[in-house]
Amino acid sequence: MATPDKSISHRAILFASLAEGKSGIKNFLRAADPMSTLDACKALGVEIDDRGSDIIVIGKGMHALQEPFDVVDCGNSGTTIRLLAGVLSGNPFFTVLTGDASLRKRPMARVIEPLTRMGAQITARAGNRYPPICIKGGPLRAISYAVPVASAQVKSCLILAGLYADGTTEIVEPEKSRDHTERLLPAFGAVINVHGLRVTLHGGQKLRGTEVCVPGDFSSAAFFIVAALLCPHADVVVRNVGINPTRTGLLSVLRDMGASIEVSNVRELSGEPVADIHCAGGAELKAVSLSGEQIPSLIDEFPILCVAATQAEGETTIRGAGELRVKESDRISSMAAELRKMGADVIEYEDGLTVRGRCRLVGTDVESHGDHRIAMAMAVAALVAEGKTTIRGVSSVNISFPGFFELFTKLTA
Ligand code: S3P
Repeated sequence: MATPDKSISHRAILFASLAEGKSGIKNFLRAADPMSTLDACKALGVEIDDRGSDIIVIGKGMHALQEPFDVVDCGNSGTTIRLLAGVLSGNPFFTVLTGDASLRKRPMARVIEPLTRMGAQITARAGNRYPPICIKGGPLRAISYAVPVASAQVKSCLILAGLYADGTTEIVEPEKSRDHTERLLPAFGAVINVHGLRVTLHGGQKLRGTEVCVPGDFSSAAFFIVAALLCPHADVVVRNVGINPTRTGLLSVLRDMGASIEVSNVRELSGEPVADIHCAGGAELKAVSLSGEQIPSLIDEFPILCVAATQAEGETTIRGAGELRVKESDRISSMAAELRKMGADVIEYEDGLTVRGRCRLVGTDVESHGDHRIAMAMAVAALVAEGKTTIRGVSSVNISFPGFFELFTKLTA
C-alpha cells in the first residue's frame, strides 16, 4: 500500500476545519508536514480528534476561526504556510506564521503580493519576502491574477482567499500545477470552475463537512518505482496510488526512457483517480530531455529522476526547473553535489542540470540537506552504488514518509 498523499492530507484537514459540521478523514498522512497543518488548525480553535485511525474534525465554518494565542509554527511545510495565508487573509484577526530554518528561506512574496491586492495587511521578514509573516485579515475583494510561476500552493492560497472575497476571483496559471484543491473543495460543497489553466470562483461560499479518504502518494511511491526499475530482478506493485495526471509526469518520462510500468485497477477515491502500479526491473533505460510544461507534473520527482538518469544510456537534461532551487533545499545543487560525491558526472545550470548516464556510482558519505526527498533519492542511489553509502540527516524523511527506511530495508533485503 502506498503511504497516504501529503498534499491531499493538508487540504482535507484545512477544508474540514473551514466547513460547517463534522468531517471524517480516512488514511490521513501522520507525517510532520500534514501534522503542521493539523496543529495550526487546532491553534485556530478547531476541534480535531486525531487519536484514532481516522481523523475527526468539527469544523468552525468560514468565519469562526479564533485568533491564535501564539505564533503558529508551520515547521518545514510550504503548503501549510501558503494555504493558511490565504485563509487568514479573510479572517479579521492577527496571526504570525513561521517555520523551521528551511521554511524561513522560502519565498512568500508570491502569496503576499496578490493577497495584499485583495485587501489583506501582510508584512514579512526581509522586505516582505520571507517568513515569519504577519497577517491582519479582513474583508477581501476579488482579483483577476496571472500567477507568474506554476504553483499549486499559490493557486490554492488564492482559491481559499477567493472564498472570502467579494466578487469573482480569477486565477490563471502559466502551466498546470497539481489540482487537488479544485478536486477536493467541491466535495465540501464549494463551486470551483476550471477551464484549462483558468480557475474562477465566487466569494461568500460556505463549506459543509464530509467524509474524505486520502489516496496513496505518487511522489512517495516514485522512490520504490525507480528503485524497482534499477534492480535487474525486482518486481514491485504499489497499490492504491494517486494517479492524478497533474502529478504523474514521472510515469510518462520513465516510459519514454524505456521502462515497462503497468497501471491497473484504475478507480476513483474522493475525486482523485487511483490505481495499482506494477514495475519490473532490468529495463535498459535511455536518456531524455525535459523542459517547460512537463516540469510541474514531476516537480517533486526531480531528485529521484536524477538518480534514474545516472543509470540511463546517454545524457539526460532537465531545464526550465528553476523552482527547484526554492524547495525544502535547493534541489538542483543538492542533487548535483551528492551525486557527484558518488562519482556521477553532472553539469548544473541555473534552471536544471545534465546527468551523464551509465555511471558507476560508488558508495560514500552523502547529505540529505535536511530535505526528505533528497534523503530518499540518495537511498535509491545507494542501492545501485558499489560499496557502502552513509546518508546524513535521514530523519528528514518524517516530513512525508515516516517508515520509509523500514520499508526500503525490507524490500531490498
Ligand atoms: C504542493 C505543491 C508543490 C509541491 C509541494 C506540495 C502542494 O509546490 O512541490 O511538495 O501541496 O500544493 P508548488 O506548488 O510551490 O510548486
